[in-house]
Amino acid sequence: MNASPIAVIAIDGPTASGKGTVALRVAAALGFHYLDSGALYRVTALCALDRGIDPRDGAEVTAMATDLPVSFAGARIELAGVDVSEAIRAETISQYASVVASHPGVRTALLERQRAFRKAPGLVADGRDMGSVVFPDARLKVFLTASAEIRAQRRHKQLIEKGFAANLGAILQELRSRDARDSSRAVAPLQAGAPDTVLDSDGMTIEQVVDAVLERYRRVVDQS
Ligand code: CDP
Repeated sequence: MNASPIAVIAIDGPTASGKGTVALRVAAALGFHYLDSGALYRVTALCALDRGIDPRDGAEVTAMATDLPVSFAGARIELAGVDVSEAIRAETISQYASVVASHPGVRTALLERQRAFRKAPGLVADGRDMGSVVFPDARLKVFLTASAEIRAQRRHKQLIEKGFAANLGAILQELRSRDARDSSRAVAPLQAGAPDTVLDSDGMTIEQVVDAVLERYRRVVDQS
């Protein structure tokens, strides 16, 4: 039996593994809500920079995260009423997000905001600790991954398509440094769960990955 009647599909994994795209499509296919937990850490980082707070200062950032004036309206993310949906995707914010996310107090401060996304008929949540910490009773847990080289190529293509200048070598290096920070932090590190949660997307298209997740979910539902 589930502790909560509202189903959660937790999709965790390293940067550029395709989690966001896959989670959104799985949510659309099932008519579920969607939580982009990384966006909360990104907004926290942006807010700290705006207010002149050092992202490495755990106490200051935690105090700020507790009253973070963030709101979600569909795909639009607002910080104190200003649309920051685009601004939080900048590469500098990606790095700072992983710094603020390493503070235990910040993670605790953002916990209930994430759990509030759990609404009927269900939720697809993507991040690093969706299955391990935020929704440990998730109906389905997926650890979506791919090799660092493939992830760097995907991120590179994405940036070029958006019209940004991008260097593959630099992207690979940044991605590895973020992987290292996300995996080595003391609290809620990025870790694969049970072996049957791993979905390695090397050589798979987004559609194939979405289908694989939906198939896993169908199996779980059929078994319950
Ligand atoms: O899109 P990408 O995977 O590159 O990043 P993201 O999911 O937006 O997350 C940005 C950063 O927030 C990550 O590098 C993590 O350090 C942190 N994060 C986290 O610690 N826990 C989560 N549940 C989600 C993100």
